[in-house]
Amino acid sequence: MAQLIDGKKISADIKEELRLEVETLKEKGVSVCLAVVQVGEDPASCVYVRNKTRACAYIGIESKSYELPESTTEEELEELIEQLNQDPSINGILVQLPLPAHIDEDRIINLIHPSKDVDGFHPINVGRLWTGEDGFLSCTPAGIIQLLKRSHITLEGKECVIMGRSNIVGKPMAALLLRENATVTIAHSKTENLKELTKRADILIVAVRKPKFVTAEYIKEGAVVIDVGMHRNENNKLCGDVDFADVEPQASAITPVPGGVGPMTIAMLMENCVKTVRE
Ligand code: GUN
Repeated sequence: MAQLIDGKKISADIKEELRLEVETLKEKGVSVCLAVVQVGEDPASCVYVRNKTRACAYIGIESKSYELPESTTEEELEELIEQLNQDPSINGILVQLPLPAHIDEDRIINLIHPSKDVDGFHPINVGRLWTGEDGFLSCTPAGIIQLLKRSHITLEGKECVIMGRSNIVGKPMAALLLRENATVTIAHSKTENLKELTKRADILIVAVRKPKFVTAEYIKEGAVVIDVGMHRNENNKLCGDVDFADVEPQASAITPVPGGVGPMTIAMLMENCVKTVRE
C-alpha cells in the first residue's frame, strides 16, 4: 500500500501555524488585509474565491471582496488594481483567473504591484524565483514542496518529472524542485516517448488537465505521485489527472483527489498574505 499524502491534514497544520502567527502580529498592532477580485460568475471561480475568503477569516486575515460584472472593461479593472496598489490598508491583491476573454490577463497580472502579488504571478516574482531571490512563490507548486517535505520525502538528487508546462504550475514547480537540488524534466503535450520519460521519475508531478490520464504504465515501481488535477467524472465525483486505483499499488506515496494538492494551494496563499507583513 502506498503512503497517502494527506493534504487536508498538512494544510490544516500550516493554517494553524499561520493563525498563531497572525494572533501574535495583532498583539503588536500589525494586521493583514487581502483584496480578492473576481470578474464574472464562473462557478468554479466562485467556489475558489469563497474558500479563499473563508481561509482568511479562519486565520485572522481581513479580506475585501470586489465582485465585478462580466461586462467590466479592461480599463475599469486596471483602475481598480491601481487603486488597490496605492491603498496602504491593502497588503495583498488576488485577481481570480480566468478573466473574461475580452480582458488581457497578462496585462492585469503585470499591473499588480510585485510587493502585493500574493499569487506570485508577476514577472518580477517569477524572476526572483528563478534567480533564488526572496519573493512570492506561486501557491500550488509551493504547496507541493510543503507536501513532500512534511511527508519526509527526500528531493535532493531525485529524478523529478513534471507533466505540464503552465506558468501557474509546471514552470514554477521546476524552479522550486531545482532549488531543492532535484534533477528536473518538464514533459508536455509535444513530448515524444512520454511513458519512457515518466517511468524514470522518482517523483512524478502530474498537471495535464485531463481526467485519469496517467495510468500504471506511466509509473516506475515505488515512485511518488503528485496529482494536481481536479475534475468531475460522469457520476459528478471528483477525480484527478491520475487514475488513482490503477496507479496506487505501484506507487510508494501518492496524493488523493480531493484532499491532496487542492487544500495546499489555499494554505500557501495564506502564507503569502502573512509574508506581506513579516519583517
Ligand atoms: N485560477 C486557478 N488557479 C488560480 C490561482 O492559483 N490563483 C488565481 N488568482 N486564479 C486561479
